Amino acid sequence: MPPVDSTPHMVEESYRKTERNLQVVRSRLGRPLSLAEKILYGHVTDPAGQDLTSADSYLYLNPDRVAMSDSSGPMALLQFMLAGRKEVASPTTVHCDHLIQARQGAGRDLETASIENHETYAFLRSAAQKYGIGFWGPGSGIIHQVIFERYAFPGGLLLGVDSHTPNAGGLGMLGVGTGGADSVDVMAGLPWELKRPGVIGVRLTGEMNGWTAPKDVILLLCGILTTRGGTNRVIEYFGPGAETISCTGKATITNMGAELGATSSIFPYDEGMNRYLRASGRAEVAALAGEHARLLRADPEVEADPEQFFEQVIDIDLSALEPHLVGPHTPDLARPVSGMAAAVAQEDYPDGISVALIGSCTNSSYEDIARAADIAEQARAQGAKVRTPLLVTPGSEQIRATIERDGQMHSLEAIGATVLANACGPCVGQWGRSDVGPGERNSIVTSFNRNFPRRNDGSQETLAFIGSPETVVAYALSGSLSFNPVKDTLSTGNGDSFKLTPPKPAPDVPEGGFVRDEGGYLPPAANGDAVEIVIDPASKRIAPLEPFPAWDGRDFSELPVLLKASGKCTTDHISPAGPWLALRGHLDKLTDNLFLGVTNAFAEGPGNGTNQVTGAKEESLMVIARDYNRRGLRWVVVGDWNYGEGSSREHAAMSPRYFGAMAVIARSFARIHETNLKKQGLLPLAFADPADYDRVLETDRVSVTGLTSLRPGAPVGVVLHHADGANEAIEARHSLSEEQIGWFKAGSALGALVERGADATGP
Ligand code: F3S
Repeated sequence: MPPVDSTPHMVEESYRKTERNLQVVRSRLGRPLSLAEKILYGHVTDPAGQDLTSADSYLYLNPDRVAMSDSSGPMALLQFMLAGRKEVASPTTVHCDHLIQARQGAGRDLETASIENHETYAFLRSAAQKYGIGFWGPGSGIIHQVIFERYAFPGGLLLGVDSHTPNAGGLGMLGVGTGGADSVDVMAGLPWELKRPGVIGVRLTGEMNGWTAPKDVILLLCGILTTRGGTNRVIEYFGPGAETISCTGKATITNMGAELGATSSIFPYDEGMNRYLRASGRAEVAALAGEHARLLRADPEVEADPEQFFEQVIDIDLSALEPHLVGPHTPDLARPVSGMAAAVAQEDYPDGISVALIGSCTNSSYEDIARAADIAEQARAQGAKVRTPLLVTPGSEQIRATIERDGQMHSLEAIGATVLANACGPCVGQWGRSDVGPGERNSIVTSFNRNFPRRNDGSQETLAFIGSPETVVAYALSGSLSFNPVKDTLSTGNGDSFKLTPPKPAPDVPEGGFVRDEGGYLPPAANGDAVEIVIDPASKRIAPLEPFPAWDGRDFSELPVLLKASGKCTTDHISPAGPWLALRGHLDKLTDNLFLGVTNAFAEGPGNGTNQVTGAKEESLMVIARDYNRRGLRWVVVGDWNYGEGSSREHAAMSPRYFGAMAVIARSFARIHETNLKKQGLLPLAFADPADYDRVLETDRVSVTGLTSLRPGAPVGVVLHHADGANEAIEARHSLSEEQIGWFKAGSALGALVERGADATGP
């Protein structure tokens, strides 16, 4: 059984392998390498044979670690159980963070969660014990924060079953978010396949000052690159400004690279990383990183002439950066806070802020909370309190206990803040909100990373704006979205006015060190064979899986179109979170949420469509899909641009597949979701001409031809059979590799793994 920790021995082995691989890769490519390339190529299984140049090549990788949450973990582990392995082959951890609902505050919410989620926790705990996985129980912290504090190391490669896994890039580890089926490959000891990404360079110069925070770097970049701009790219930061940002500040930036659709984001190794590693009890790893520093930065030639080596170079002068607030509904609607008053007036956003929230995996570091507490202290000195409820989610028990010891928590509570459990909470819709009525349009301000409609509280009418924690606290004090923290004044307790001063710089490592806490951790059992997996046969949360049926060897013929998604269609639209999170280990019950949030071009209400068999209109798409499935009728989905953007949840692929979907034909796909569709045996097809999206009509039947000769790089034929008898032949492209075509034929990647048997070693 591999150790759970990133031990010095393991880190040293990882560096040795990277050195060996890069020797081979350098001799083949004959050019300097970026940091992203060093880490990726340093982890390929076959440096001599790996395709490093074709435009659409895939990398076969051996990541150093795997991480999963209690939301993604059940499905990942249910799939791993089918793989027939005795224990995991790589260090792996599971973190109970997503299922705790925020209602009354940390203590009582945790008690309630332990009762409500006991089936899921019991399953995860027993599976972790059996298979050699480290188990972090409810209340111990959010997956990415705990990974950062305990396991991340510069130059490592982390696969996480959660889209914000790139958070580890703040410590120089390349974290990639995937679906659970990808993690099964790594846990089973097989190579993990990743489309070879390009690299975008972001040159940072200057130094932040005043109100500007690391969050503003990524908010600005969201506005520049948009939610599609990072697709199949790693964002690599470099330049003198990088070293001026704290380690946890870097993590905020790499965390939100997910909002650009990026494969990952990374910062080069520096002294700040070394300091953070030592402060978090990893002095030996820090020493190793220092010795191997040349592996952990781009080659000097790349920094000297980045335009020659990166696909694109974006310049950000940190000295000139203004604090930003982005949203609503998308993170790329970016503007400085100075532009908020005009935006409110122009767009008619509700000016009164209903709730302000800080924390989440993105912004709950010691530095974040210290700067937020600085603003709170200024208000307290004036006798002012928040004008809108302020909710705080610490990222981990280590952070919570440290800010309690050092007084920041008290400063926030003194102005009226409520501290929630160390968990995802409202960031992922786990919010028992009662302050607004159903359908009530309202504005919230958060320091989280996502702001899709319905993301935080399930309401389409909640407009979520995202800023840094210190900015959010300032908005909580003003209660108004039009407020400009840099210039405007606030009221004191006795009616006078005062102006906030910018928060003082704060350390990412506290002077007195972190309060270390491992109370919520359970190591694997010494003898996993003796552990029984706990699944109650009557459970409504967890149900064993059956692999999907293999392909029948025939073309798809005249399948109905269940829906044509119009505009943004995220994984939250396809498989909503909130109350549904708890059902993610029970595919049948979870699938009752299918497509609830999707805007169907052929229907009025969200999540609705027409049943092409019965003719019933404005019926729930989930009900129609279940009906088709009962009749043995398979179907297709038509998607718009960037179909499946957002989270890594593989349920957004599994649920359609479970109800009989065979293909998704879209203008384009988000990376993780495209892979998830392939993993679950669906065909993700892109219109060769995106304008063909408009040719698809509600009553069409769709055939996909040429499947028996499906091969990498070759398009497939699609025929639209219109109801008036006319047929239109169009072309669709796919990005399936030879290996992935095998998944399609076997019904899913898991089916292929089971077919190959437990001893398979893969390509
Ligand atoms: Fe959790 Fe929100 Fe991060 S859901 S893992 S806190 S993005």
